[in-house]
Amino acid sequence: MQINFVKAEIPADGALVVGVFEGEDSFDLLHEIHRRSKGATERALKAARFTGAKGQVVELLAPAGVELDRVVLVGMGKAGDYNAGVAETVGAQGVARLLTSGEKAATVIAQLPRNANGADDVVAAARAGMGALLRGYRFDQYRTTQKKTDKATLAKVSIATADAGEAKKAWRAAEAVARGVYLARDLVTEPPNILYPEEFAKRARKLEDQGIEVEVLGEGEMAKLGMNSILGVGLGSERETQLLVMQWKGARERNAQPVAFVGKGVTFDTGGISLKPGPGMEAMKYDMGGAAAVTGLMHALASRKAKVNAVGICGLVENMPSGAAQRPSDVVKSMSGQTIEILNTDAEGRLVLADALWYCQDRFKPKFMVDLATLTGAIRISLGLEIAGLFANNDELAGRLIAAGRAEGEELWRMPMGERFDKLIESPIADMKNIGGQFGGSITAAQFLQRFVNKLPWAHLDIAGTAWTDEAKGSTPKGATGFGVRLLNRLVAENYES
Ligand code: BES
Ligand code: MN
Ligand code: ZN
Repeated sequence: MQINFVKAEIPADGALVVGVFEGEDSFDLLHEIHRRSKGATERALKAARFTGAKGQVVELLAPAGVELDRVVLVGMGKAGDYNAGVAETVGAQGVARLLTSGEKAATVIAQLPRNANGADDVVAAARAGMGALLRGYRFDQYRTTQKKTDKATLAKVSIATADAGEAKKAWRAAEAVARGVYLARDLVTEPPNILYPEEFAKRARKLEDQGIEVEVLGEGEMAKLGMNSILGVGLGSERETQLLVMQWKGARERNAQPVAFVGKGVTFDTGGISLKPGPGMEAMKYDMGGAAAVTGLMHALASRKAKVNAVGICGLVENMPSGAAQRPSDVVKSMSGQTIEILNTDAEGRLVLADALWYCQDRFKPKFMVDLATLTGAIRISLGLEIAGLFANNDELAGRLIAAGRAEGEELWRMPMGERFDKLIESPIADMKNIGGQFGGSITAAQFLQRFVNKLPWAHLDIAGTAWTDEAKGSTPKGATGFGVRLLNRLVAENYES
């Protein structure tokens, strides 16, 4: 899908999407449509009980007096509650309606609060474009037949705005981020017979074209470094375990201390010898959602030429049962030197991150590390499927993450940590065990990770509930969400660019 910016007027044909505030005098453009239709459109809106309330969408077909096939009206709620996310919703809802409608082109226009109210035309236009592009994501790679009515038709979305020139400039950075989200979604959506650790690494290598330095460590190199924690997870797999290291050097000062992101990349999680039940196991193809977000983020940073040095590290491995797989009760020695008693081979994500985090701080001495992982089913129980769990040893980093998430519509909720949870992973035979007890499962997992961050400022995002959605919502079609790319891009843009 292609997004462009044009001046605000009623297009000659195709579809028009109009965002309208609740209870406001409808704005000039809508008045004009009503005038041309001799009041028919106004009557239609009244009949549909359209008030502009948040969540309302009404579609008028072939309205009288204009050559348009359709006018889609999207409620934006009260003008006083406006923020840029509302403009994004207009783009997203418009595309949701029109993507397979037969319409090839659409113009989107979002009313802004009359008294400005902190609203910025350029920001609103870019966010409307973002909503349109992100909601228009499709993955049709493996379909050889498709009903005509299921095919995406909408190829071009024009955002109507007061200053198209400025909007185009703002769009360059916004599109870079959206394309990063696309990459993350593609990686997550690919089936695990296609996307195994080496294939993931191969796709990440393509980022070299954008100026990212990519290194891939194989099992031999990882063994030399003592990474027996992640290697243990891959023992049962026919596929080689990989450690992916990406570096973007965009800071003005070439040697500036980097920021670092670490992703869990379990390309499929059967549970290993602690085998998961069959029903629903297919979901575990998205157990590499953290690694996908890190890769998508690196893509976004490089393609918008972010003025920052950033490191992205992904532990890529497949968790399979086999005669060679590790067993519950095995003890492994991690790269940090700490030993781990494996009591459940399905608690593998933390084993992957243990070595990836240690390697990251040891080699790069970053300002901070943020890891992303589809780590625990327990976070889904705690927070549901729309908010990710945030765990941190640093209040400033936590605060910045929460703020960035709120602004991007990728919400975080901070969870507690501390000694009382840490003691739950003590082992009778090794330095720690890889599971806590029955309770506080997401927290004991985070405590485990914290033992591998060597006191650096660190945050962990448990995205097990948010990496995938069975329902389309806002800027996210159903399927892979790409959660984390937008929020981390904003974290960097607002706090760490020089
Ligand atoms: N990948 C899973 C967590 C998960 C569950 C992600 C559902 C997405 C949706 C993780 O590796 C796992 O299996 N965790 C176990 C940990 C337990 C054995 C301590 C879990 O949450 O049940
Ligand atoms: Mn698991
Ligand atoms: Zn897992």
